[in-house]
Amino acid sequence: MIGKGTRAASVRYVLGAALGMASMTGVALAQDAASDALVARGRYLATAADCAACHTAPHGGKPFAGGYGIASPLGSIYASNITPSRTAGIGNYTEAQFSSAVREGIRGDGAHLYPAMPYTSYAKLTDQDIHALYAYFTHEVRPVDERAPATQLPFPFNLRFSMMFWNALYLDNSRFTPDPAKSAEVNRGAYLAIALGHCDTCHTPRNVMMAEIGGKELGGASLGSWIAPNVTPDPVSGIGSWSSDDLFRYLKTGDVPGKAQAAGPMAEAIEHSFQHLTDDDLKAIVAYVRQVPAIRDAADRKSRDSFGLASGREAVIRGAAGTLDNGEKIFTGDCAACHHPSGGGSKDGYYPQLFHNTATGASIPDNLIAAILEGVDRTVNGQHVFMPGFSHGSYVDELSDQDVADVANYVLTQFGNPAVKVSVADVVSIRNGGPKPLLARVGGYIVPAMVAGAVVLLGLIGLIVARRRKA
Ligand code: HEC
Ligand code: HEC
Ligand code: HEC
Repeated sequence: MIGKGTRAASVRYVLGAALGMASMTGVALAQDAASDALVARGRYLATAADCAACHTAPHGGKPFAGGYGIASPLGSIYASNITPSRTAGIGNYTEAQFSSAVREGIRGDGAHLYPAMPYTSYAKLTDQDIHALYAYFTHEVRPVDERAPATQLPFPFNLRFSMMFWNALYLDNSRFTPDPAKSAEVNRGAYLAIALGHCDTCHTPRNVMMAEIGGKELGGASLGSWIAPNVTPDPVSGIGSWSSDDLFRYLKTGDVPGKAQAAGPMAEAIEHSFQHLTDDDLKAIVAYVRQVPAIRDAADRKSRDSFGLASGREAVIRGAAGTLDNGEKIFTGDCAACHHPSGGGSKDGYYPQLFHNTATGASIPDNLIAAILEGVDRTVNGQHVFMPGFSHGSYVDELSDQDVADVANYVLTQFGNPAVKVSVADVVSIRNGGPKPLLARVGGYIVPAMVAGAVVLLGLIGLIVARRRKA
């Protein structure tokens, strides 16, 4: 397609030359119109792929100037400045270099990018779409001449070439190919979900090497403090109990009353990306998500949106303020004003109910703890949805680890899955960015382990040689 585009341009050039000066303006206009459409397409793709989520720093960062540190278990990885600045950004990138960076994780200077840049997903992008993205980033994005901070990971992860081995194992550098057995809508949805919407980068679990596990597509994964739950069509462990309209509404607004609200990284994805997609594209994503293979977790008994009911404890609470346990006291003081003492939320639905809510019905309480600590902050279609967080620095109330555990347990027994219990250690872990993958945990030991391995190997060789001599 890049080839075709160039050919079309050169045909125009030849035509222009043949027709002479008089019609040159007409040709130039036609070319501008074509590139306007191309740039607009690139803009839409950049939104669908949510390039800004990482490449624009939060709280007023200049568009695409980078600087946002992505907290990885190995340390912060800073997204680059990808404005067309020649000194600080990608102003000197050719389209081929841009394509290698986005689809293969190789920077303009040949160094390898960390997979925090989702090139394993973007590898599926078509040549046309890369062409449109390049046109957008070079023609419309404003150059910003400020360098993004450098990423400094601990040894051995600071050796960028080590990503070569990772890529050899885990980068499937093939473009998206439609599955002829599936409808055009499902194929479009697959392309958006995998190559652009990258649902899988968050919702597909990763192995110890932090690569997505094949065959576990959308099966659920921990992102640190938050969990991107199983969203396969399984009616118990996934979202098989949701209608297509529910899922459409969730992706467009982040709120499905009686089912789920989006906070954390999902809220960001909806705010910056999904709400801006056309309805047809959202419907295509829904059609795709609803036909991936269902995954069941043997421990699950019923769907996480089906737990709990309204509490009648308000009457009890009124006469018994002195005898309440800590969790109930905190709920009454810090939560009930919005979520109602019954847990039923507000009549207009702005404050959600806490029963029949995936955050309280899930078998892993991470999102409930994260919501209490970090709150909810999402702007969709001009409406700001906000719940204050209760962690350190909260302007409402700074809850201790014990307080968070107590109120979470109260909410779980009263409105959610009563079999799930939150410990102080769980709260400490979520406060500190969640469970660390094995790779991060062994990181410091990799080199000693390798040395130990080499010593053992040498020892074995020595043993074999000694035996041979004896024989
Ligand atoms: C999930 C976060 C994330 C998203 C989404 C993302 N990027 Fe990146 N990108 C990064 C990070 C982090 C780096 C730097 C990685 C490193 O230093 O190894 C990077 C690096 C790059 C680079 C290399 C620039 C350089 O010279 O360092 C380019 C080009 C790029 N991204 C383009 C894009 C485009 C285009 C999109 C959207 C289609 C996009 N990125 C979406 C995180 C992201
Ligand atoms: C940046 C990471 C990220 C991306 C990208 C992402 N999700 Fe999510 N998703 C999450 C997290 C985290 C949650 C939990 C949010 C919460 O409970 O507040 C979630 C929740 C959901 C839920 C609600 C599940 C429940 O039980 O409450 C659905 C449905 C969903 N995502 C579908 C999708 C689809 C479809 C895509 C791709 C179009 C997608 N997500 C992309 C992180 C992500
Ligand atoms: C100032 C009002 C307010 C207070 C106080 C408040 N919430 Fe919320 N809560 C909200 C709003 C708004 C939402 C998000 C609604 C939406 O997404 O549409 C929310 C969402 C939630 C969710 C769903 C989050 C998710 O990720 O799915 C849970 C669980 C929750 N609140 C629990 C609590 C608990 C427990 C407390 C007390 C410690 C509390 N809330 C205090 C307003 C409040």
